[in-house]
Amino acid sequence: NNLVILISGTGSNMAAIVRAAERERWAERLGARVAAVISNRPGAKGLDFARERGMATAVVDHKAFDGREAFDAALMRAIDVHQPALVVLAGFMRILTPGFVAHYAGRLVNIHPSLLPAFPGLHTHQRALDEGCKLAGATVHRVTAELDHGEILAQAAVPVLPGDTADTLAARVLTQEHLIYPQAVAYLLSKK
Ligand code: GRF
Repeated sequence: NNLVILISGTGSNMAAIVRAAERERWAERLGARVAAVISNRPGAKGLDFARERGMATAVVDHKAFDGREAFDAALMRAIDVHQPALVVLAGFMRILTPGFVAHYAGRLVNIHPSLLPAFPGLHTHQRALDEGCKLAGATVHRVTAELDHGEILAQAAVPVLPGDTADTLAARVLTQEHLIYPQAVAYLLSKK
């Protein structure tokens, strides 16, 4: 069971999954391994983490393609080399075409930094603060053609504290993401 993880930046969620796979011995227990880390941004810091661990990496730079379909087709080619049982979006900041989503139907997951269905889309923490929410959090969900609306697989909630900024709240939520994402991925792999 190969996993391919897609990132766009820091890749802290990817790193949490890679560490969990090693610590919990997914290869032996689940017959699963993180086969590759792929980014749409050449400078994504997460690529350094993957390279340092000798992992396969690839860059499919969305700026190098004329249109969303052309980019997604190139991304699919880079992913399918690894014949993944699961494609994990981890801080991947691209909206994927329906063709891409259909190609990976049933094996595409994402983590979103809000308690969906609240706050789909961007700037979730600032929006939660602006609304005076007392709880915030993250959601692991299956990816469908409708942005941030697939079946919810896992969630974690954190308190919004007095004086919180989007950054302090984001950091508190991120800590929980690093717990629930590896757990949700391991659960999905155990069902494969
Ligand atoms: C963070 O905002 C996180 O909440 C969301 O994607 C962004 C980057 O995450 N899931 P990562 O550190 O690149 O995994």
